[in-house]
Amino acid sequence: MQNTKFLLLRLTTLIIATVPNSLCGYSGMGRLRGLYVGWIGHANLGDELVLDIFGHLLRDVLLEQGMYQRASLEYQPAFVSGQSQQLNFSTYGFAVLGGGSLLEAGYSAWTNQCDGLGNAKVPLYVHGTGTQLGLKDHDFRNPKCLQPPVWGGVRGHFTNALLANLSQHFQSNISFELPVFGDSGILADRIFPRVSSALVAELEGAIDRRSSAGVICISGSIQSGQTDTADLILAWVSKYIIVLLPVDPETADRQVVITWKVRTASPNANGGLFFNPQVTNYGVWLALLSRCDLVISSRLHAAVMAAAVGVPFVMLYTNENTMLYRKGKDFLLGTIGPDGWEEFLVRRSEFNGSLAAVDNLLRTVRSRHPRQKSAFDRAIEHAQSSYMSSLRAFVRTVIPDNFRSFKDVHIRISRYLDSASFDLLFE
Ligand SMILES: *[C@@H]1O[C@H](CO)[C@@H](O)[C@H](O)[C@H]1NC(C)=O
Ligand SMILES: *[C@@H]1O[C@H](CO)[C@@H](O)[C@H](O)[C@H]1NC(C)=O
Ligand SMILES: *[C@@H]1O[C@H](CO)[C@@H](O)[C@H](O)[C@H]1NC(C)=O
Ligand SMILES: *[C@@H]1O[C@H](CO)[C@@H](O)[C@H](O)[C@H]1NC(C)=O
Repeated sequence: MQNTKFLLLRLTTLIIATVPNSLCGYSGMGRLRGLYVGWIGHANLGDELVLDIFGHLLRDVLLEQGMYQRASLEYQPAFVSGQSQQLNFSTYGFAVLGGGSLLEAGYSAWTNQCDGLGNAKVPLYVHGTGTQLGLKDHDFRNPKCLQPPVWGGVRGHFTNALLANLSQHFQSNISFELPVFGDSGILADRIFPRVSSALVAELEGAIDRRSSAGVICISGSIQSGQTDTADLILAWVSKYIIVLLPVDPETADRQVVITWKVRTASPNANGGLFFNPQVTNYGVWLALLSRCDLVISSRLHAAVMAAAVGVPFVMLYTNENTMLYRKGKDFLLGTIGPDGWEEFLVRRSEFNGSLAAVDNLLRTVRSRHPRQKSAFDRAIEHAQSSYMSSLRAFVRTVIPDNFRSFKDVHIRISRYLDSASFDLLFE
């Protein structure tokens, strides 16, 4: 079975390689190309995930009643790539604004990604994009990336408010009142199977063997005052099992150092401290998360993944003017709504990092969890149906009428630096 699938994939790859761009004379086949703009090729968990979720939703929509009999999806796993793609929106049948801070300019040359989008007249789909800017940061907003006609939806109401302000500021007549979808990463546990690995097995062994008060998972820095993350963990590991879950190579580097410091200072910590170096292996991430009694995160994407799996989480923020606070709030309001969103945000100055503080926090989140979990279950259900219905409308617009009679469609996603391309081959 596995072999047949592999052969089929190879065969399809071969077919794609021999289809000319124009398709003139290939009446038995149709090809539609899409351009995805996003923070791709940086091995950043959340942004790579958003691309792959888009691919899966696209396939699901193409398999719906009245569409195609078979739809297959082929893509390479996330990687760090140095190769960028020449972007010319006019040469694509559709474009997608994906994960990453695309609505921002001024941070890097990268935001030139949307150059030419305005004149290209290509149907544009917004896939849960969000902002992390404050209302006054006009200079940092990137008006190039939002052009009508616009399909899809944004991460939260806050993104909509910022877009309305942007529209006003640039005296454009574009209405930016888009549906609110939350972050598509909350669908991760419905789409990707949880996968075991040596690390997952070791963690499960430790949970069985050690008498610990729980599993605390950490993503990003949890530093409090003058005490650094390694010193805090050194105290925690005496009572809890600790799992470090970085979301990108940069955080991973720092957490390697933390792991080394803790293990050197306390050889006994070895069996109670785990570090996951596979930042974009979704299946392993989900399997590890499902074992956490509490996720403490200073990264949005770890919180989104925790919400997807249904485990308790909090985001540790410094103050209300930080990007984490803004996008965290936007995400929470965009998923569970106004009731109880503050519970997920813990101010660093109110969490001193002592063992007593962890005990307190764990007790509090345990009591809230049943209510919070059902709020997220509803949010995930809602997000999935909203994503599907808007994508369905978009797909029906972009697929040419003469491709409707085909039976099969094969989707191939190619990853580049800061973009990806979709090849839809109809037969
Ligand atoms: C983009 O592609 C269009 C259509 O193929 C072409 O007319 C145009 O010159 C290209 N633009 C650039 C900047 O290459
Ligand atoms: C837009 O931002 C400015 C601050 O630069 C603020 O004064 C104004 O009220 C905002 N407008 C909207 C519609 O949010
Ligand atoms: C906005 O709409 C008004 C009235 O329809 C028009 O006069 C104005 O030129 C438009 N502005 C832009 C930037 O398109
Ligand atoms: C830290 O917080 C805990 C509980 O939140 C409290 O019991 C403890 O006294 C605090 N420690 C310091 C040094 O402030």
